[in-house]
Amino acid sequence: ASGVPLIKTGALTTCTHLPYAPFQSKDASGKVVGFDVALIDLVATKLGVTQEIVDTPFEGIKSGTDLNAGKCDVAAAGMTITDERKKVLDFSVPYFDATQALAVGTGSTLKTLEEFAGKRLGVQGGTTGEEYIKTQVAEKKLDVEVVSYKDLAALQQALATNQVEGAVNDLPVWNEYIKANPGKVTVAAGFDTGEQYGFAVKKGNAALLTAVDEAIRTAKSDGTYDKLYATWIGD
Ligand code: ARG
Repeated sequence: ASGVPLIKTGALTTCTHLPYAPFQSKDASGKVVGFDVALIDLVATKLGVTQEIVDTPFEGIKSGTDLNAGKCDVAAAGMTITDERKKVLDFSVPYFDATQALAVGTGSTLKTLEEFAGKRLGVQGGTTGEEYIKTQVAEKKLDVEVVSYKDLAALQQALATNQVEGAVNDLPVWNEYIKANPGKVTVAAGFDTGEQYGFAVKKGNAALLTAVDEAIRTAKSDGTYDKLYATWIGD
């Protein structure tokens, strides 16, 4: 109604960074699926278009570069809403609560950051988990070697092959990994960072943001959100 186009092309383009199951990952047929994908599909349906996924590094998503340059209409990347990111992106209402968690190989007794003194701890580059761990290590003056990996797959691979003795990422992501790879890793500790995920749009795209918020609110009130949660996140 405002005359401002909600989306650039005939499709709703979504920037995300794969893999990040259960929020976004490729299924056996190569199709990108997940909780975020399903929620943004509701937005696309509402707009009468289909969703097109653009897989791109998280750095460009959270820095606002991709959306503000028009690479995508919306970002859906299990992305935590932070004050810093709010300066460069407009966020939807929160759609998911998360905390950080430390995963270690099964049988490892490491549980605290202090115990990682002289050891290697992996994180995912550009994420809130990386920032949290780097801040903790600096504040507590811990002699921990923090190693940043370019994506979740590289981080999980590093842990599986003992390149690092532990790895920090969002708890739901570890829960999903453990479901898919039983017996390999365990969650040794949680860090109550109180994070909330939001979808993001280019600064000022209020029309699209309203459509996203309405889709989330409707899904929460009509039971769709709970169904998708049960399908993708479980209990
Ligand atoms: N929630 C964390 C953050 O916002 C990690 C998100 C990583 N997402 C991804 N699709 N790679 O920093």
